[in-house]
Amino acid sequence: MKTSHSYPFFGPDGYDGLDALLQELAPSKTFLLVDSNTTHCLSVFVPKLGQLDAAFEVLEVPPGEESKSLEVAANLWSVLLEYGADRNSLIINVGGGVVCDLGAFIAATFKRGIPFVNVPTSLLAMVDASVGGKNGINFAGLKNQLGTFTQPNYVLIDPDFLTSLPQQEWESGHAEMLKHALLSGTNWAEALQLEPATLALYEIQQSVAFKAAIVREDFKETGKRKVLNLGHTTGHAWESYAAVSGNPCTHGAAVIQGLHVALLLSGLQDEQYALAKRYPWIKVEDDALTPLWERQLQDKKNTHGEVRYVLLEELGKPIWDVQITREQWTQAVSALNSAS
Ligand SMILES: NC(=O)c1ccc[n+]([C@@H]2O[C@H](COP(=O)([O-])OP(=O)(O)OC[C@H]3O[C@@H](n4cnc5c(N)ncnc54)[C@H](O)[C@@H]3O)[C@@H](O)[C@H]2O)c1
Repeated sequence: MKTSHSYPFFGPDGYDGLDALLQELAPSKTFLLVDSNTTHCLSVFVPKLGQLDAAFEVLEVPPGEESKSLEVAANLWSVLLEYGADRNSLIINVGGGVVCDLGAFIAATFKRGIPFVNVPTSLLAMVDASVGGKNGINFAGLKNQLGTFTQPNYVLIDPDFLTSLPQQEWESGHAEMLKHALLSGTNWAEALQLEPATLALYEIQQSVAFKAAIVREDFKETGKRKVLNLGHTTGHAWESYAAVSGNPCTHGAAVIQGLHVALLLSGLQDEQYALAKRYPWIKVEDDALTPLWERQLQDKKNTHGEVRYVLLEELGKPIWDVQITREQWTQAVSALNSAS
């Protein structure tokens, strides 16, 4: 595979760089993967690329987590075959984290890997999902059970796409920015104050740069990269439990729940209190405790059947592989319930 990048490119320079990559790759066929909420982004994206083959195909999937499924993946592989895609074909993922995760997985597995580009259109995908080379789909009711580590050939971030993003999806991306701020320890107070209308490009750059730097140190998540899972142990459990309970929430809303738990288990009450002022803890009912704990037992970071957490010794000082017992977790949840 030709050029691949672990760091994104932004705005007009980003389009120039992508044009240069298209020239270099000279793909036999180009596929633009979107969901029905991001199709409109193509009217901004396509005209900015002089080197994009006009005979591209648009592949559209339904929006939402349900598209990260084996069924949708199989359908896309079939469509690629029908169009005669080969190892020199290119997939450009124009969408949120679902489109980036799904399209990257399709590209990484089709004919043992074809080139792909991520063009994130949600805030969450800009600061997190489009960068770092993890991709995947959900399986057996559990998040991201099938996937690979494969770097995209290019990531282009154009904040103009955010103008059409619904408020709750903006907040979902904000959750990952808050996670990066807690981990880096550099801009926690400022990150808590961010708002859609005033979000600056450099704030997106700062957040995604933090992730990219960690990924460069530990691409396959054998050690330090695990810190990026701060808030995600309870978060993933909450997200999948909410979905099967018929009350789905955004990925970021689930991560916020997880950050509350992680901050309390870390003994960082002040930070948890500050977080609650912006994003209050959502009370966990008694009958949800067992299913939530059981989902955490399935977490990919676990070893020896023990639940492992990322915690913070202090702001900016994460530790990982911390064993948390059911009793400790239940106590934290009870304390958060009582305070809410
Ligand atoms: N691979 C990774 O490293 C990584 C990291 C974090 C999250 N993720 C994954 O990312 C997914 C969550 O990402 P997400 O929050 O972007 O979800 P998403 O892709 O479902 O996007 C959220 C919603 O916003 C819509 N949308 C996206 N861009 C839009 C735009 N510009 N205008 C209008 N609507 C728009 C989408 O259609 C969708 O309805 C999860 O599946 C999560 O597991 C992956």
